[in-house]
Amino acid sequence: MLNKCGPRLCNIKPDHKVLEIGFGPGLGIEHALEYVKDGPGKIYGVEVSTYMLDAASRRLKNPISNDKVHLSLASVIDLPFDTDTFDRVFHCNSYYFWPSLPQSVSELYRVMKPGACMVAVLSLDNIRLAKSRGFLKHGDPDPLKYMFALEASGFEDVKFEYFMEGNFKYQAIFAHVHEKPAYHFDEELEDSDSELAKDEHSEIQQNIQPSNKKPSSSQ
Ligand SMILES: C[S@@+](CC[C@H](N)C(=O)[O-])C[C@H]1O[C@@H](n2cnc3c(N)ncnc32)[C@H](O)[C@@H]1O
Repeated sequence: MLNKCGPRLCNIKPDHKVLEIGFGPGLGIEHALEYVKDGPGKIYGVEVSTYMLDAASRRLKNPISNDKVHLSLASVIDLPFDTDTFDRVFHCNSYYFWPSLPQSVSELYRVMKPGACMVAVLSLDNIRLAKSRGFLKHGDPDPLKYMFALEASGFEDVKFEYFMEGNFKYQAIFAHVHEKPAYHFDEELEDSDSELAKDEHSEIQQNIQPSNKKPSSSQ
């Protein structure tokens, strides 16, 4: 049920590039696929468990071979995607397993396009049950901590909502990327593809230096 809610709340359009973090057996990706099947959109997923990657790869064999679904063995903390790639990101019952919320959330922010939105779905009832049975000893499911980390990384309009479908109660956290701040020029120069930018930068520096010099005594 939760796996259906994430993609639905994302408002995925047929041309969107969508990412799921921690896809498990692949049910969420299967639902997300419904929204892009008639357009050029694609669904991507990352998972740290090889067992889950194998299970999802079997489930999604056809869309993978049709180039509609791409699954990777990777952690949210180090995503194998370019900056500004995704229109939508979703995850279901996942953030409380991530190694570091600030680093994971910054990485999500990096790969999302300006204008993109993210939805995290969870069930507080299921989390309480899991805790009472001795599971989730290491993860921290506190939604507020996750929301603070989102805000601190630059996400905007971060909000928490309650939902009920039949007898099933669940919650969702929404977070948006609006305008991204301009990159710092020196950071851009770290990029190995920016040799041209480096040349332009030093040319600009040479051009601006004379104006910074004090006028010589002969002038
Ligand atoms: C409770 S399962 C949920 C699976 C799936 N989303 C679902 O609801 O059926 C959490 C999943 O998150 C994955 N996971 C944990 N840490 C992760 C990380 N750092 N990066 C990506 N996935 C991670 C786990 O391997 C696991 O499959």
